[in-house]
Amino acid sequence: MAVGLFDSGLGGLTVFEAVARALPDTPLVYFGDSARAPYGTRDADAIFRFTCEGVERLWEAGADPVILACNTASAAALRRLQESWLPTDKRVLGVFVPMIEALTERRWGDNAPPRQVAVQRVALFATPATVAARSFQRELAFRAVGVDVEAQPCGGLVDAIEAGDMALAEALARSHVEALARRMPNPDAAVLGCTHYPLVERAFVDALGPEVRVISQPELVAASLADYLRRHPDRASTGGTRRFLTSGDPARVSDRAALFLGRPIPFEAA
Ligand code: DGL
Repeated sequence: MAVGLFDSGLGGLTVFEAVARALPDTPLVYFGDSARAPYGTRDADAIFRFTCEGVERLWEAGADPVILACNTASAAALRRLQESWLPTDKRVLGVFVPMIEALTERRWGDNAPPRQVAVQRVALFATPATVAARSFQRELAFRAVGVDVEAQPCGGLVDAIEAGDMALAEALARSHVEALARRMPNPDAAVLGCTHYPLVERAFVDALGPEVRVISQPELVAASLADYLRRHPDRASTGGTRRFLTSGDPARVSDRAALFLGRPIPFEAA
């Protein structure tokens, strides 16, 4: 079986890259629902429905487990999907927990009660739907006490990235940092809680300044997946094949992906 990676569009490629580096021999299938991106301004029912359809498409392509390389889907749909929809023999994993474990200095499976951690003030940058779902705060509260989270819904940013307008995307990243700084002037850490945002990470890092530790997901998710496959060797295949599926126009999506990753990424119609 391959590992599937799902995103509303191109952002999950940031996770794909880190996973491909960490697991060069593992077959990977990516599906981006670019025809319906962005998800971050949709309601939770639509995000749930689209996420289930995306996961089914990845199953058809021979993938299991599937990683929701999308914070919006992880925040707004994952729990419902696991509790009410997912067959017991399949695995769908989200991208929140590895990030929160890093923030709270926990190892996988550490279920000790919430405790004081070094970080006190966290700035969360995410889509409006991720911010509204409050899943980040809920997962954090299971592990840490006394952490103040200020969330900034970054309207427009995913649209600009999907459109390949990186100058606009960088300007939006800077303005969202300024908006958050008015409410939380000195965060200790900032979380880029959308898999599209590492594509403009430099703009976030520069605007936040050197005092703020910026937590970006791709490497954390890749390390956590590698650990999962070590613990579940029955789910780990070899062969290293890569496939890219899109619900959008394959030529256009391939062009954008090549722009982001600096090499050809041949998307096929899903
Ligand atoms: N990459 C998705 C995420 O991590 C973007 C969501 C969207 O389509 O708005 O949240």
